[in-house]
Amino acid sequence: MVVPGRQDKEEKIYYPPEDLQMNAHVPNFNSYLALYKRSIEEPEEFWRDAAQEFYWKESPSGQILQFNFDVTKGNISMKFMAGAKTNMCYNVLDRNVLDRNLGEKVAYLWEGNLPAHHQTITYGQLLKQVCRCANALKQTGVKKGDRVAIYLPMIPELVVTMLACARIGAVHSAVFAGFSSESLAERIVDAQCSVLVTADGVYRGEKLINLKQISDEALEHCQEKGSPTVQKCVVVKHHTLRASGTDECNKLQTPWNAERDVWWQDIVDSESEQCDPEWLDAEDPLFILYTSGSTGKPKGVLHTVAGYLLYTSLTFKYVFDHHHDDVYWCTADIGWITGHSYIAYGPLANGATSVLFEGVPVYPHVGRYWEVIEKYGVSKFYTAPTAIRLLMKYGREPVEKYDLSSLRVLGTVGEPINPEAWLWYHDAVGQGRCPVVDTFWQTETGGHVLTPLPAATPLKPGSAVRVFRKPWPGIMRGIYGNQERFESTYFRKFPGFYVTGDGCRRDKDGYYWITGRMDDMLNVSGHLLSTAEVEGALSTHAAVAEVAVVGRPHPLKGECLYCFVTLKDSHEFTHDLVEELKGKVREKIGPIATPDFIQNAPGLPKTRSGKIMRRVLRQIARNEKDLGDLSTLADSKVVDVLFSYRCKTA
Ligand code: WTA
Repeated sequence: MVVPGRQDKEEKIYYPPEDLQMNAHVPNFNSYLALYKRSIEEPEEFWRDAAQEFYWKESPSGQILQFNFDVTKGNISMKFMAGAKTNMCYNVLDRNVLDRNLGEKVAYLWEGNLPAHHQTITYGQLLKQVCRCANALKQTGVKKGDRVAIYLPMIPELVVTMLACARIGAVHSAVFAGFSSESLAERIVDAQCSVLVTADGVYRGEKLINLKQISDEALEHCQEKGSPTVQKCVVVKHHTLRASGTDECNKLQTPWNAERDVWWQDIVDSESEQCDPEWLDAEDPLFILYTSGSTGKPKGVLHTVAGYLLYTSLTFKYVFDHHHDDVYWCTADIGWITGHSYIAYGPLANGATSVLFEGVPVYPHVGRYWEVIEKYGVSKFYTAPTAIRLLMKYGREPVEKYDLSSLRVLGTVGEPINPEAWLWYHDAVGQGRCPVVDTFWQTETGGHVLTPLPAATPLKPGSAVRVFRKPWPGIMRGIYGNQERFESTYFRKFPGFYVTGDGCRRDKDGYYWITGRMDDMLNVSGHLLSTAEVEGALSTHAAVAEVAVVGRPHPLKGECLYCFVTLKDSHEFTHDLVEELKGKVREKIGPIATPDFIQNAPGLPKTRSGKIMRRVLRQIARNEKDLGDLSTLADSKVVDVLFSYRCKTA
């Protein structure tokens, strides 16, 4: 995405505040360089030192980092602490409670969709709850290596279930609770999950979502696909419990299959608070998390125990300059990697206190984020450019109503941040005193890969700073069940390197500026979507003959979906049809993928060999009249027709 004005604004440099530098883990640029240099030149020693903080039932047998990133030299592989035995859950809970005396410390400040709903959970309580859940999972038949699907909203039980899986060596596969039943089913089938953990329902803002009903539909789809692997569905009583005694209760019908379904409260609450952790190999799988792939089929990104533990914990500590008295808040959903790494594992590994927020930024009012920051005295705040742009729209007044003096460091993630949003975040939210760490990374990288450090790096608004070439412990170990796709997606293009799929440019000072995706992926409000996936969803409508989806810049979402649809002969392009098509996408993928624009396309621009020229479609969507060389088009008249049907407003 090219942002107007970027060239001028990038020249101003923001230096780290001195008071932050006084206590920081990495207090200045030179100390950062020394650390960076050591991590690159002596990775064995660097990571061996970092590993000392954690508990290893058995030590690693050989080299700490073993890898091959070069397809020309054999299969791609990476191993970290191979031979060591440990347990993630033990390290993030028992170690904090037993060895670090943090049993009474608050792990999560849970803040519900409504400000009146909130709850605190200490490390000690979390450990007990996780053990109960782990015992209950074992009772339902879950064993080491089994996959457990989790389709839960932002409630403590989500973290509890993940950690319970980690404790017994089961592999969790969390699916963002905004995905449709079909998306959920596709992920359950791919990972062959034996248990699904969900909730009755949840309010997101003013909207009540019947998660159990969606889950039931998903399980029916699994049956239809001939893959009825889910034996048990565990249902957290959430909405019904919160709403008990009010009319709200009647708003939700919870469908029930007595043979398969059990209430969480019925099986977890009665279990013992003791559960021995399963000692796992460092390279045993920890979780699978799906991310969009350019073929349209989501990729099950696989992460393993030890590397992910070390990488998320170390990046959390340095990038947010974590200190014991911090209150940290990451607004992401745990259903995405940001939540896995920087709400669950990274913060817990550091014994941090985090806000766990169920709601949305503008409910019940547009100052909700700022209210929560004041309420809990949040010192480190991590959110997405799309949220910043949304809140920026309401001006400074809602921000200024609240006391944000507790803030020390701000972070952003998920998509390139435009300098305007960066500056507003820095000035209006951070009151000019808080560095903004713009963290570039991916589901596949496990944790931050390009980012400033708050007390060490002079900042340029919108820039992601420096890069490295060597493998790191947090990188994905594969795509679940598909080594070939893993190698071809990430390692074939530049042998010896991992390819992110993003473009970037380097400026004269060596700062890297991420320019956005270079493949057929779109980044809508920080969520990666593949054009093929959306095209697949639209094609299921009976009226559609052919379809092509491209991205178009959007002031809040960063990018939005612009769809060109060719109808079958007997069909007419009407407003109702457009709504039906949008409905198809919501049904097949989920509301996050709803197209903003659907245009009638009597024909699509194709090369003589029949390949759709997406470049031309992108330019039409953006109303760029100068289309350059069109000589490869089979029929250039199609372009004028498409311009005449262009959607001007959403
Ligand atoms: C994009 C999210 C620019 C990028 C953690 C990447 C970013 C994709 C940034 C991964 C950033 C993420 N600046 N672009 N700070 N952070 N991206 O897997 O295109 O959901 O490849 O992981 O988001 O998205 P994913």
